[in-house]
Amino acid sequence: MTPKLKFTIDLNAHPTPAEARDASMQDPAFGRVFTDHMVVIKWTDELGWHDARVTARVPFSIDPACAVLHYGQEIFEGMKAYRGEDGALSLFRPFENARRFQHSAERLMMPSLPEDLFVEAVEQLVSIDRDWTPVGSGSLYLRPFMFATEVFLGIKPASAYTFCVIACPVGPYFKGGDRPVTVWMSEHYTRAAIGGTGAAKCGGNYAGGLAAQVEASRNGCDQVVFLDASERKWVEELGGMNIFFVMKDGSLVTPPLSGTILPGITRASVIELAREAGHTVREERYSIDQWASDAKSGDLAEAFVCGTAATLVSIGEIRAASGGFVIGAGAIGQTTAALKARLNAIQRGQQPGPAGWSHRIAL
Ligand code: PLP
Ligand code: COI
Repeated sequence: MTPKLKFTIDLNAHPTPAEARDASMQDPAFGRVFTDHMVVIKWTDELGWHDARVTARVPFSIDPACAVLHYGQEIFEGMKAYRGEDGALSLFRPFENARRFQHSAERLMMPSLPEDLFVEAVEQLVSIDRDWTPVGSGSLYLRPFMFATEVFLGIKPASAYTFCVIACPVGPYFKGGDRPVTVWMSEHYTRAAIGGTGAAKCGGNYAGGLAAQVEASRNGCDQVVFLDASERKWVEELGGMNIFFVMKDGSLVTPPLSGTILPGITRASVIELAREAGHTVREERYSIDQWASDAKSGDLAEAFVCGTAATLVSIGEIRAASGGFVIGAGAIGQTTAALKARLNAIQRGQQPGPAGWSHRIAL
């Protein structure tokens, strides 16, 4: 067994003054404000994981031939630390992120970071930058990521990597509070094919989705919903969120984990919480035509997107080059609101949830 890595703590000598920090945390745009520190751990073929440190958040110096700049060997995670009413900070199901990070690493031929080390790295950063965690409805968004650093232009798994964690205080992902989002259904672009990297959280998946996202913005939409790449018929997920349909009988439908969609931790949690609340949940394929006809007939009561950054947000309208349709009455759906409130209460320690979901950080 590898001995436990000890973190070197090298504090930022010029941390942001409290007043400037607090001002930057007032209604921050998602992903634009960063804390004072970062965690870095190195990996090489010879040494394995080594040199774990918490340091000031500074730019990396990267060789122009660094592997990640050419072939995109990069993976990441997204998770949040929440401040409870008693001031305590908690992570939500962090070992699930650690496991998904390992799966992404395996798919991209990158080294596996032990789960405990992943969680400890995140805890270290949250603990040191704890004053950056907003009070109230905001949270501290954490971005663990890993990239290939070998200086070499051959196509092969790199022999050296950097793992890093950075953090941002965030409010809602979509501006405008609980307003339902408008979603663009891309008829041209797809996100992931069978056998591809759709189930991994790698940067390339998001780069490939940008053209569709720009198309969405040009058409006044907030996000893109992707259909499957083979039949262009089955609803898969959004660029950065999973999707649920709430039928008028109260049952929920969500696309199955086919290997082409990201296994969301919010998705898994919503399935459990919906069942706990007495809803039937089916993980089954749902076609875009069915969606349109159920929305028109009223068999579909609500649809929502879910993810760490977005939480749960209702979908109000679908637009596509060939037409579109509306869902619900322009407000957050009742079932969506109830599931969102329950999840939020667990994440903030206001209600107990299933064992291990709320992971308190020792400060
Ligand atoms: N699907 C994609 C493509 C995502 O990027 C995300 C966000 O991480 C999700 C789904 C939701 O996953 P999670 O609930 O774990 O944040
Ligand atoms: C997350 O929810 O953490 C993501 O990575 C998705 C992105 C839309 C920010």
